[in-house]
Amino acid sequence: MELPFAESWKIKMVEPIRKSTREQREKWLKDAHYNVFQLKSEQVYIDCITDSGTGSMSDRQWAAMMMGDESYAGASSFFRLKDTITRLTGFEYVIPTHQGRAAENVLFSHLVKPGAIVPGNSHFDTTKGHIESRKATAVDCTIDEAKDTQLELPFKGNVDPKKLEKVLAESADKVPFIIVTITNNTAGGQPVSMQNLREVRAIADKYKKRLILDSARFAENAYFIKTREKGYENKTIKEIVKEIYSLADAMTMSAKKDGIVNMGGFIATRHEDWYEGAKCFCIPFEGYLTYGGMNGRDMDALAVGLDENTEFDNLETRIKQVEYLAKRFDEFGIPYQRPVGGHAIFVDATRILTQVPKEEFPAQTLTTELYLEAGIRGCEIGYILADRDPVTRENRFGGLDLLRLCIPRRVYTNNHMDVIAVAMKNVFDRRDQIKRGVKIVWEAELMRHFTVQLEKL
Ligand code: F0G
Repeated sequence: MELPFAESWKIKMVEPIRKSTREQREKWLKDAHYNVFQLKSEQVYIDCITDSGTGSMSDRQWAAMMMGDESYAGASSFFRLKDTITRLTGFEYVIPTHQGRAAENVLFSHLVKPGAIVPGNSHFDTTKGHIESRKATAVDCTIDEAKDTQLELPFKGNVDPKKLEKVLAESADKVPFIIVTITNNTAGGQPVSMQNLREVRAIADKYKKRLILDSARFAENAYFIKTREKGYENKTIKEIVKEIYSLADAMTMSAKKDGIVNMGGFIATRHEDWYEGAKCFCIPFEGYLTYGGMNGRDMDALAVGLDENTEFDNLETRIKQVEYLAKRFDEFGIPYQRPVGGHAIFVDATRILTQVPKEEFPAQTLTTELYLEAGIRGCEIGYILADRDPVTRENRFGGLDLLRLCIPRRVYTNNHMDVIAVAMKNVFDRRDQIKRGVKIVWEAELMRHFTVQLEKL
């Protein structure tokens, strides 16, 4: 008999979590204005709000922390991190930042001017925020198929080369760079193929533009290339990663995901001029160039995390757990963005809460229902997150309205996945009784989903 699949690690330290009653959750959620970001973590049983900064570090990473060099300038921790990044990506210039959005802030301060147009594939909200707040425009060139949650495509995060070419043909002079997000978080943690990256590179070359990879989940993307793209079956993850970055000019990185650290990020590039430009913004915004917002010990943990998470076994354990949850959802007929992505399941709220009008935010409503059901905290990636159009100030209902259930790396077992699946099924089974959603009573102008206050209708 073939042996079943099991994790490529064992557990050395645990953290207790607690259940609550429905009555308690009803009060807590009301106090949090129906916004799960405003719950206290003790009020949550299984936390799927994000896979960002919530992973478990390995014993190797904790050991590396003890070697942290906290020197203000020239810390050896920085050089260990830089050498790892250069070895993995080929990028020579590295600027640490305190997280991914800080990398965007520093690099975009140098590159994005008012009136600029930045094409990409479903820019993440902080990426879009850092473009729009500079009075520039983010143009989404993701393939149309990504919007059909039931369509099974191996690389549903891809850029549509025709859309990208159109932007460049019409306004190349306004485009400071192209940005491709791997994996495509907003479209459901969907990967981008190597073939697609090559096509984007060719268009970039044709118009003499540079390409940035928003790399928060680059290792998961490499896993999908290995397991889904012809010609990559026998390559190692590290070889695939090297090839990915050979096609790019720079990366912005939230190390809190595939770096498996709780805090951290960086910019890396092969171009001295971008490094020189970004440098001037790193110092006032983040800190001196050899720490830029990170502790020495955290840079050491990140160097080890990057190496560990570009190994197949670690990625396979992680992705197989997400696939396990997806299989349970399939058993119950719960619709989600197919095929399941790397870091999360994105439940298609508009296909479940069909009676809740879009103006009452179905995905946010589903998020609150799942929390009330079992204390499981997901997060809306939908109409609230989409923010208002900066010009018309209307809600943007053009995209998908999803409940994202992120799976932190190396944190929960498949028993937890079973609890999530059954809780979701219970909500799904009573979907016809959910007729009303939520109403916004207060919102911020930008990135409103973190602080929005809602009322139950
Ligand atoms: N790019 C992508 C694709 C992201 O998913 C994130 C963060 C960022 C950039 C910004 O990085 O948080 O380190 O500043 N995503 C988190 C999430 C918050 O929950 O998906 P950060």
